[in-house]
Amino acid sequence: MTREQAGFPRLRLRRLRRGEAVRRLVRETTVTADDLVYPLFATWGSGLREEIPAMPGQYHWSVDRVPEVAAEVAGAGIKAVLLFGLPARKDPHASEAYDDEGVVQAAIRAVKEARPDLLVLTDVCLCQYTDHGHCGVVTPDGRIDNDRSLELLARAAVSHARAGADGVAPSDMMDGRVAAIRAALDGEGFEDRLILSYAAKFASAFYGPFREAAHSAPRFGDRRSYQMDPANAREALREVALDVAEGADMVMVKPALPYLDVIRRVRDTFPHPVAAYNVSGEYAMIKAAAARGWIDEDRVVAESLTAIKRAGADLVVTYFALDAARRLASGGFY
Ligand code: PBG
Repeated sequence: MTREQAGFPRLRLRRLRRGEAVRRLVRETTVTADDLVYPLFATWGSGLREEIPAMPGQYHWSVDRVPEVAAEVAGAGIKAVLLFGLPARKDPHASEAYDDEGVVQAAIRAVKEARPDLLVLTDVCLCQYTDHGHCGVVTPDGRIDNDRSLELLARAAVSHARAGADGVAPSDMMDGRVAAIRAALDGEGFEDRLILSYAAKFASAFYGPFREAAHSAPRFGDRRSYQMDPANAREALREVALDVAEGADMVMVKPALPYLDVIRRVRDTFPHPVAAYNVSGEYAMIKAAAARGWIDEDRVVAESLTAIKRAGADLVVTYFALDAARRLASGGFY
């Protein structure tokens, strides 16, 4: 019999839980502001800070007010934002996505002017910019044209880099987009810009509030011909393997809480930095339950972010980033 099996009464694990000091000493997983990425929605107009109905506490910021939120985020100790844009125009070719004067490009410049120290990552996708709301170009018979979409995605990525983005995060799930984007960035002299690929992105109902926020719900059909089947974890490893082979610097699993097993498997299989996206529906559920007094929001958020890190994520993209960073700074997180 090993000593461990000899067990009780000599061994008492509760000794490791007797008081906050020892609990902190043996804590295996910690969350810090360094791990958090804050998603930001930029829109045209002026003086706007419009709350997103299904995401209380999250806003559409007009570009002129982006410096204000960038200062708040950096002031809370957060190192990176992930930018999304609400364009003025939508068309079949997603032209504002790769317009150097587009809304995301303007927002990138606004963040960088205000806070050059804040890392700017940008979501690269076509769904917010297409009139049909799909993440790629649609053929006359209603299919998503993978290879024709690649060129537009690459143009969007280059345009973001030209505006000053430190990294691009392709979320479209077209095959081959990481290679196409890497080649385009390198071809324009942006070999120093990183790619955070949404590698294992599932066709999830948890994106509902985001689609309302980004006005990006597909007009017909759904995203299941390009986003992954929630049932598949081994396939997620294939997606990640392809993206890293194509040059992804960091890989993301999305959503986070319903896919902790996928995060763990990606972490155990690849040495690359792993990100997890704690998505809009995960945020909305906590907000809604907390508003009814059914759960303690602060404690549920701390537990959720800790669980995502414990599963193996190095960084977490989360709408809770700002609140969590503030509570971490004041010592009130755990
Ligand atoms: C764009 C994109 C989506 C999200 C991030 N990038 C929506 C989607 O794929 O439908 C979801 C983010 C969230 O729900 O918080 N393709």
